[in-house]
Amino acid sequence: MDALTALLTRRSTRNYLPRPVEKEKMDKLLAAARQAPSGGNNQTNHFLVIQRRDVLDTLAGMVEEAFSRMEVEENTYSSLKHAILASKKGGYVFCYNAPVLIVVANRHDYGNNMADCACAIENMMVAANALDLGSCWINQLRWLNEEPVLVEYLRSLGMREYERVYGAVIVGYPATDSGLPNRNMMAQKGNEITYIE
Ligand SMILES: Cc1cc2nc3c(=O)[nH]c(=O)nc-3n(C[C@H](O)[C@H](O)[C@H](O)COP(=O)(O)O)c2cc1C
Repeated sequence: MDALTALLTRRSTRNYLPRPVEKEKMDKLLAAARQAPSGGNNQTNHFLVIQRRDVLDTLAGMVEEAFSRMEVEENTYSSLKHAILASKKGGYVFCYNAPVLIVVANRHDYGNNMADCACAIENMMVAANALDLGSCWINQLRWLNEEPVLVEYLRSLGMREYERVYGAVIVGYPATDSGLPNRNMMAQKGNEITYIE
């Protein structure tokens, strides 16, 4: 698949087979992430590649517990509102039981932390599509990136004391009839273009 097709047909996958992702494909995804641009070529993204089921389940439990303690307010962002309400109800799994979660941390005192993280995640999502894998950005660990229990647990997994999470991505084989990602072009409702000619 050429680069432009991989980019144009990438869509989010939220339903996965339990099948693990081969090491060769993981290596390619992480190479794509590490070749992403970064402000001043700082290269301070830190990728925590989580494939252990017990760690994924522990994180899911911690995220649910943290959201269940939060209250919905009038102007709460709709996705956050969903996370809070679903967590209070019970059974909320923020990473859709995907077999791989890649958490992207960066220095909390660095102005381009989120931008650099976004470049790396987009590279991984496009690469995943080219490798017949599904993917989806996962934002919950960023929303909770000052939650002490989660910070401590992520530190036990290797996150540095001066880092926080700025995004995450799940990857795996899609649970579709074809086993391939749903590839289509996104209908546009925004993303304005103004040509100055
Ligand atoms: C910054 C950002 C945060 C997102 N957070 C989540 C998330 O936490 N959970 C989720 O299911 N999708 C998340 N998404 C995926 C978007 O919902 C998705 O990209 C959008 O609906 C467009 O669909 P597409 O990815 O299939 O083109 C996020 C996307 C971005 C760029």
